[in-house]
Amino acid sequence: MAIEITTATPDDVEGLAECAAITFPLACPPGSRPEDIERHIATQLSAGRFATLLGLPSHTILCLRESGRILGWSMTVLDQPTDTDVLDALSLSPVVELSKFYVHPEQHGRGAAAALMSATLERAARSGPPGVWLGVNQENHRAIRFYEKSGFRIVGTKRFRLGDRDEDDFILEQSLGVI
Ligand SMILES: CC(C)(COP(=O)(O)OP(=O)(O)OC[C@H]1O[C@@H](n2cnc3c(N)ncnc32)[C@H](O)[C@@H]1OP(=O)(O)O)[C@@H](O)C(=O)NCCC(=O)NCCS
Repeated sequence: MAIEITTATPDDVEGLAECAAITFPLACPPGSRPEDIERHIATQLSAGRFATLLGLPSHTILCLRESGRILGWSMTVLDQPTDTDVLDALSLSPVVELSKFYVHPEQHGRGAAAALMSATLERAARSGPPGVWLGVNQENHRAIRFYEKSGFRIVGTKRFRLGDRDEDDFILEQSLGVI
């Protein structure tokens, strides 16, 4: 079955929340507390939250679908970073943040993530800034490998707050001029 990748619309918020609830835990390090994960999903990845995000002109959400079902999504943000660790690490400015990138396990290892990444980077390149960056948990080896295959390189480290714990992230960057 062919996959399609389109910009999210308000009709997609329930499907996005459903996909996000399945995929967010996969990105969390093994020691994460289930209650912190659940709280993050309930507050940051609900249908209502997606509706809010869709209304922000600085945010772009792409959906990956198969037979109409959302099986992956990405979100880029045009706001500039304020975290000093991020600012110190990046070599490019201004930048787009690849804030979210999640694919349903049914589609892992099948090329769907690469297709979503191509569409996401193409869209990011058209938005203007010369660079794109992201943060990924240092224990998320599969995602790190995937991002490196997609042209990103590790340029630094930062902290990510999940519940009352600080998690260690790598900061990755790539130029949008070369795609
Ligand atoms: C990250 C993600 C989008 C990648 O998509 P994917 O379809 O799994 O990616 P691919 O299969 O193309 O690439 C994964 C690579 O990691 C490798 N890999 C898998 N498990 C690994 C591990 N434990 N350690 C190191 N590499 C690993 C695979 O072999 C593959 O590399 P290869 O092509 O050189 O063999 C997807 O796994 C996902 O959505 N994960 C859950 C959510 C997530 O972690 N998102 C990122 C948040 S920052």
